[in-house]
Amino acid sequence: MQKLTDNVLLLGNGNFNYYIVGKKESILIECGTSAGVSIFANEWSQLKEKPEIKYILVMHSHFDHVCGIPMLKKLFPEAQVIASQVAQKILLLDKVKVALGKADEFIINTYAKEGLLPTRPDKIDINNLKVDLAVKEGDSLKSGDGLKIDVFEAPGHSPCSIAAYLSSDKVMFISDAAGYMTPDGLMSPVFFQDYDLYLQTIKRLSQFPTEVLGVGHGNVPLGANQVKDFYSQGLQAAEEAFNSIKEKLIQGQSEESITAELFNTYIKGALSYYPEDMMLGSMYLLVKNVKSRL
Ligand SMILES: [Fe+2]
Repeated sequence: MQKLTDNVLLLGNGNFNYYIVGKKESILIECGTSAGVSIFANEWSQLKEKPEIKYILVMHSHFDHVCGIPMLKKLFPEAQVIASQVAQKILLLDKVKVALGKADEFIINTYAKEGLLPTRPDKIDINNLKVDLAVKEGDSLKSGDGLKIDVFEAPGHSPCSIAAYLSSDKVMFISDAAGYMTPDGLMSPVFFQDYDLYLQTIKRLSQFPTEVLGVGHGNVPLGANQVKDFYSQGLQAAEEAFNSIKEKLIQGQSEESITAELFNTYIKGALSYYPEDMMLGSMYLLVKNVKSRL
């Protein structure tokens, strides 16, 4: 647990970050997975002054950002779950929800095996993987203390990604929009939807005065310099990966072999706890996005 600003608290194990904005009628940002919520709930129970949670903001619909919803709804039954319209629609698809549930269970098993869970969560009820209210670019959410969070679309990582800006505290919540930084400082490029949109999003978000960068996973960059470094490393990692994949494709290397190399390079840190087939699928999306531009 870490107080990031006067109004923002960070919870979670560092792999799955949870942010509480405000001291009354607060906004919880990020949902993580069931394993993540198990760790969050343990910290939450120790919190002396617990704010009431009014909104739960889902930053995008990847499994490691939505599978915590059912457990969070149990903890905060009055809270409204909010996400982009695209994420809301995705979470209506039964096939998708089954796949999300399986990935969540995989993480529970891995965390349990490693002894990382305070209590082992039950398998999620995928019927509870749902969004109550959709937001779009230009919308804002208010906490009970009058704090305002502005919502932006942040495509490129996924079409359902949003960012949220708390201007009063200069905090930008970007989730995975600019990359994943391993504990060793390796930046993984994550332009799974579209390379150009990804670069545009990073460049756009980096224009906002920011002292705290609310990333979905890993260490939270603090101070303008760390924030600037994170964005520039995100851009650099994406450009380097793009150029390297492009060269390999031009040289005739197979997509499978490039995908395997990307997996070996980037699936480090918390990502190594994720299902291998899913991570290979994600790495293939990088190859696909580069190929579409040749
Ligand atoms: Fe993601």
